[in-house]
Amino acid sequence: MIAEYISQKEESEKEATMDKTMSNFHFKFMSFGYKFRDFFLPRKNILKEVGIKTGFRILEYGCGPGGYIIAAAELVGKSGKIYALDLHPLAIQTVKNIASKKQLTNVETICSNCKTGLQDNSIDVVLLYDTFHDLGDPNGVLEELHRVLKPNGILSFSDHHMKEKEMLSKVTDKGSFKLSKKDKRTYSFLKVVGR
Ligand SMILES: C[S@@+](CC[C@H](N)C(=O)[O-])C[C@H]1O[C@@H](n2cnc3c(N)ncnc32)[C@H](O)[C@@H]1O
Repeated sequence: MIAEYISQKEESEKEATMDKTMSNFHFKFMSFGYKFRDFFLPRKNILKEVGIKTGFRILEYGCGPGGYIIAAAELVGKSGKIYALDLHPLAIQTVKNIASKKQLTNVETICSNCKTGLQDNSIDVVLLYDTFHDLGDPNGVLEELHRVLKPNGILSFSDHHMKEKEMLSKVTDKGSFKLSKKDKRTYSFLKVVGR
């Protein structure tokens, strides 16, 4: 009986931290708003801050409707790779449509709420934009991003829903990342090796 209670408690705690997929209506509404955002401030201007080079392997964690995908795919070129991850099936479908319409052969999608399935130390840059505040298990995701980033890999971060102080402490608290630079629109964190 006690064992049953504990397992039910563990299950409900797990559910409480699990990420909920937003409704399709909400996702479409957000995508519509982002079209204006990206028209007035093209995403390639933001990516300029990151220092992306030809051949880079990039993971966009929480890619949403794929506002960054075309600019990122162009910056890394055919020798590079973009992994676009999201838990929402509409996000995955939208990115697949963009890649096929624009003939971007270097874009791959991953549908997940945490694990990427990518190899250890294989990614040059993680883009984590406007997603962190939404994560049910932020430390689990940071741990996964730390695992896949190369030793000198960069976590490029922004989140307009969070205050700077809160964001900096949440990203660096566990000792996996340290702030390396603050630009106009993004923060760059370096992976801490040998924690
Ligand atoms: C506000 S949108 C940002 C999209 C994109 N990064 C941008 O700035 O244009 C946040 C996205 O994160 C996704 N998301 C939320 N929690 C997630 C999780 N645990 N794992 C993966 N994606 C998640 C949502 O489905 C949504 O598409």
